[in-house]
Amino acid sequence: MVIPEKLKELMSSGYQLTPETFSFLMQETDRDEIIDKILKVKPEELILDLDTIKKIIKTDISKAGLGDIKQKKQAGVIEKKVVEKKIVQKRPPSAIPRERKNKIDTELEIINTPAMEIDRISVDKFHEYFVSRFKQISKIFEGRRDIKNIVNTRYLKSIDSRDQVSVIASVFAKNERSNGIFSFELEDLEGKIEAILVKKPQAIIQKAIHVLEDSILCFTGQWRRGLLYISDIFWPDIPYNKPVHYSEQDVFALFISDMHIGSRHFLRNVFMKSIKFLNADLNSSKFNKIGEQIKYLFVAGDIVDGVGVYPNQDADLVLKNIKVQYLQASEYFEKINSDIEIIIIPGNHDAARAAEPQSPIRKEFAEELYEIDNIHLLGSPAYIKAHNVEVLMSHGNSIIDINAAIRDIPHESAVPAMVEMLRNRHLVPIYGQRTPIMPDYIDQLVINRIPDIFHVGHTHLCEDSTYRNVTLISSGTFQSQTEYQKSMNINPNPGETYIINLKNLQRTAIDFKNIN
Ligand SMILES: [Fe+2]
Repeated sequence: MVIPEKLKELMSSGYQLTPETFSFLMQETDRDEIIDKILKVKPEELILDLDTIKKIIKTDISKAGLGDIKQKKQAGVIEKKVVEKKIVQKRPPSAIPRERKNKIDTELEIINTPAMEIDRISVDKFHEYFVSRFKQISKIFEGRRDIKNIVNTRYLKSIDSRDQVSVIASVFAKNERSNGIFSFELEDLEGKIEAILVKKPQAIIQKAIHVLEDSILCFTGQWRRGLLYISDIFWPDIPYNKPVHYSEQDVFALFISDMHIGSRHFLRNVFMKSIKFLNADLNSSKFNKIGEQIKYLFVAGDIVDGVGVYPNQDADLVLKNIKVQYLQASEYFEKINSDIEIIIIPGNHDAARAAEPQSPIRKEFAEELYEIDNIHLLGSPAYIKAHNVEVLMSHGNSIIDINAAIRDIPHESAVPAMVEMLRNRHLVPIYGQRTPIMPDYIDQLVINRIPDIFHVGHTHLCEDSTYRNVTLISSGTFQSQTEYQKSMNINPNPGETYIINLKNLQRTAIDFKNIN
């Protein structure tokens, strides 16, 4: 499908299109004029549905004066700005930053994070993107002693032998037949082959169940009559003996996410308790003692609830303007001791490119957050070193896709999917499901550095584990159960998360609902 240049311009300007909007604009003869109008009007919603587009089409933006304002109001693009202005004027003077009794020096390094923008999408870029993914992950397999006779698909097609061979390939398609037989279409840079797994021990079948489409794996077997008969499957994975980095002194980090400020389900009082904890200002001397030693706050996305993220979201919002949501977020964050370093990445509800890798939250929507000196607004994924400990942060958008693709992973869980990401060495292994990918010449979603701590949000479930020396943290939320979650039988963990002592990576669960 050829995407017209004008439509690409709209898509690369930061707006996401619903499928209906996309097909409407593909077919519309006045497409260029309509897109010019959208770009001029700059609607607040980041996801453009058909209703918003139709309102904009009806708007006459060429006329100046009151008529213009009236028509823009009809299009729903002016009213919000007026509301926002009123609130900005009411904003109280900034809180005076506090300092802790025993100051801890900052040792923070931003190792890698996606840039604000990636250039326009093109078919070429998708090709380059997948080649980059293939090359990076193939390299991880290099030097593996447990894999023998690695060949490519072109060579394979030229032989017919009972020798065991191994092929590193992208899983183009996977099919599980009812009788426990799996068939795969595998692709490398030289071509495509078919592979089959028949009547194998349970351990191999278990591996086949965990194969994700689009992941880069190594398949071992015999090549006979144009088919690879699989005897084993290998993941790029991470080594068992990964060295762990520690801080030299006792210094703590708090991991949170998914506040959803602006939602009527945002739990203000519970979130305020986390701020009191960071300021060592609780009634509990036990918690204040830890609070005094906290130096880092990691925030894995969904700071605000956003606007137009899902149909009829308006009914769930108390703040219907995303700028006002960020203004309120900044008022909470500026209450936190000024010598705590706050690292914030975006989630799918934030004002950032929805496709992975996500850009940092856009400054034009969250100016007040950018004004707070101890806040570091990064993209997702982000690799950070704090007091010698390496942390990988990602919102975790693809957890839902992974849970849906592997039948023995519980749907309501975060940690099993995090393990799959590490095994696949990729944060969004599956392409074309619910997690959009923005192609770039280098695939930044490959996990090229093995972290000491891997932190995600998104599911609103508080879970932790350790996988091959990597500490896994899925922080809970500060939003109570929404109607949607109720209908889907999703039970979030509001107020629940973990603190970690960076000196020994010991983690402690904390529930802000239950402390004072
Ligand atoms: Fe969320």
